[in-house]
Amino acid sequence: MQESQATVQAARALQAARRVDNIEPFRVMEMVKAAAAMSRDGVDVISMSVGEPDFTAPQNVAQAAMDAIQNGATQYTESLGLPQLREAIAAHYQDAYGLSIDPRRIVVTAGASAGLLLACAALVSEGDQVLMPDPCYPCNRHFVSAFGGQPVLIESGAEERYQLTADHAAAHWTERTRGVLVASPSNPTGTSMTPRQAEDLLATVRARGGFAIVDEIYQGLSYDGKPVSALSFGDDVITVNSFSKYFSMTGWRLGWLVVPDSLVPTIEKLAQNLFICAPTIAQHAALACFRPDTIAIYEERRLEFQRRRDFLVPALRELGFQVPVMPDGAFYVYADISALQHPQALDSTAFGMAALKEAHVAIVPGDDFGFAAPKRHVRFSYATKFERIEQAVERLRRLLR
Ligand SMILES: Cc1ncc(COP(=O)(O)O)c(C=O)c1O
Repeated sequence: MQESQATVQAARALQAARRVDNIEPFRVMEMVKAAAAMSRDGVDVISMSVGEPDFTAPQNVAQAAMDAIQNGATQYTESLGLPQLREAIAAHYQDAYGLSIDPRRIVVTAGASAGLLLACAALVSEGDQVLMPDPCYPCNRHFVSAFGGQPVLIESGAEERYQLTADHAAAHWTERTRGVLVASPSNPTGTSMTPRQAEDLLATVRARGGFAIVDEIYQGLSYDGKPVSALSFGDDVITVNSFSKYFSMTGWRLGWLVVPDSLVPTIEKLAQNLFICAPTIAQHAALACFRPDTIAIYEERRLEFQRRRDFLVPALRELGFQVPVMPDGAFYVYADISALQHPQALDSTAFGMAALKEAHVAIVPGDDFGFAAPKRHVRFSYATKFERIEQAVERLRRLLR
């Protein structure tokens, strides 16, 4: 009798913690589910919704993982990461950006996601405000909320490359503001801060004693000149990076942080408690990413992404989508649909559904990315084969005719 009461108790819905109230699910998943159902029914859907490269880890990276498994290199690593990987990442900063970074400031994480989580755990207290641009990567506001902070999204338009500016930060800073969280290049817009924008923003934050977390996960995928890391502007910046995008290793769950010296012990004890370490096999495999022959493959892929961008953006503009700033990185185009000749042009969710159901092209409505103008925008991902992108444009042309 007592046991059955216990069973009844267990069946009761458990009350989730209050902080979860502010965390929203990805609305895009509705679109993804609808697209998957259509594909199962035999419809040829072109997916331009996913945020991951269509490329996978190169063969020598896969081989390094298999070697690690075979050699039994599969146990925990230090919480801050394999020392030789931290050194390899530091060497990469030197080779790719001419930056000298002390490997002791590099923390290997389970993807950029764990890096963002650790940075927010270390810096955000209950009630703290963190400024970010609107639109931005949806998880950013949820990372802040998860630690009791309050994300403050500030409308950032095409004229500021959809990025949070120094003026924004100055105008919205209150006594509760603790810092800023930005991504450059950005998801969903593919636009980067100019070096000047970054330097000014960081100086404004520094002058107020705040922190700056700069997510550079897409920086390897930059198309218009050599990118400049926020690390060039001071050792007090926290940057987030990952093997997911440039290195085509989404499912391997590997990324890194570069943090100021003084923050390393805090991040280390959090990493020890929250994760123990990033996946060991992935860490061994990642060492092969920095070999010159592997970098040559990644650079070829970067040029292929650039080729797709150079085709897609003018093609979308010709169809009537407004893309006021040429995206210079990542694999996204954030397009304004309000001038389209289409009955759903004022509602990105309805337009996204029409694109899916009538043109069989899956794109992402703006809703997930912020509150300023989500109904007017959709996000295209060009992490899809060139020929498929050409087909998608033709299908959209017919939809809009
Ligand atoms: C801006 C941004 N930051 C972080 C992430 C998370 O990446 P990871 O796979 O490294 O956890 C993503 C994933 O799409 C992203 O777009």
